[in-house]
Amino acid sequence: MIEVPEGKRLALAIEDAGTDIGHRCGGYARCTTCRVEFIAGEPSVCTRAEYEKLKDRGLLGAVRLSCQIVVEGDMSVKPLMTVSEMGWADPGPPLDETVTPEPDWIDLASPQD
Ligand code: FES
Repeated sequence: MIEVPEGKRLALAIEDAGTDIGHRCGGYARCTTCRVEFIAGEPSVCTRAEYEKLKDRGLLGAVRLSCQIVVEGDMSVKPLMTVSEMGWADPGPPLDETVTPEPDWIDLASPQD
């Protein structure tokens, strides 16, 4: 578990904290290797890209995609797929500072609105 600073893309904050989290698609909500478990502070909004991917993979309600989250307030998360644990050669392409693709924010509680 790590503590992350506010105002940053969560996957980058996790990397800055020294954890080798995966981001095999480069932060485009395609691979789910940046998945995290929220211990506290899970945001109520998500990008439509994250919602659709988690739904496709049967992961809705279980994990969140850290490449699709901007840190706001206190969050405690547990990265679930790291380079060292998965045996990858690298985490994946570098991540942009901002959320990609261009985020379409939706309310996780009523995603169809
Ligand atoms: S889904 Fe691939 S890096 Fe987040």
